[in-house]
Amino acid sequence: MHSIEWKEEFSIGNNEIDSQHKRLISLLNELLEAENLHVRSNVISKALYKLIDYANEHFSMEEKFMIEIDFPRLQEHKKEHYYFKKMATQFCMETVDRQKDVPHEIITFLAEWTVSHVMYSDQEIKRFLAEVKV
Ligand SMILES: [Fe+2]
Ligand SMILES: [Fe+2]
Repeated sequence: MHSIEWKEEFSIGNNEIDSQHKRLISLLNELLEAENLHVRSNVISKALYKLIDYANEHFSMEEKFMIEIDFPRLQEHKKEHYYFKKMATQFCMETVDRQKDVPHEIITFLAEWTVSHVMYSDQEIKRFLAEVKV
């Protein structure tokens, strides 16, 4: 999978969240690059842990922001974050913790989920902010 480039359409119109998404994408790219270079599996595992760690941190901050703005779909959105956390933890237990290589499918899944979540689900924040401003 190619590395992911930040696009203006990813923006949700909040600088703090946008910069967190940029960081998330850059960690994702570190993981994709590590895989493309066929580096040793422990380097990939490290990149995977870094991504998951930061994703968890970001989800908490984003949920806090949603509470602040009274976002109506908070519970559904939290479920999406929870799904990622659950899958990522499961992948780590199945692979990294057992010192196995991280399968390509797992990396692709994490990358695709993140991009589509930022592009579609997180965009709801932008739409909501635009509605309440009117
Ligand atoms: Fe997000
Ligand atoms: Fe989100």
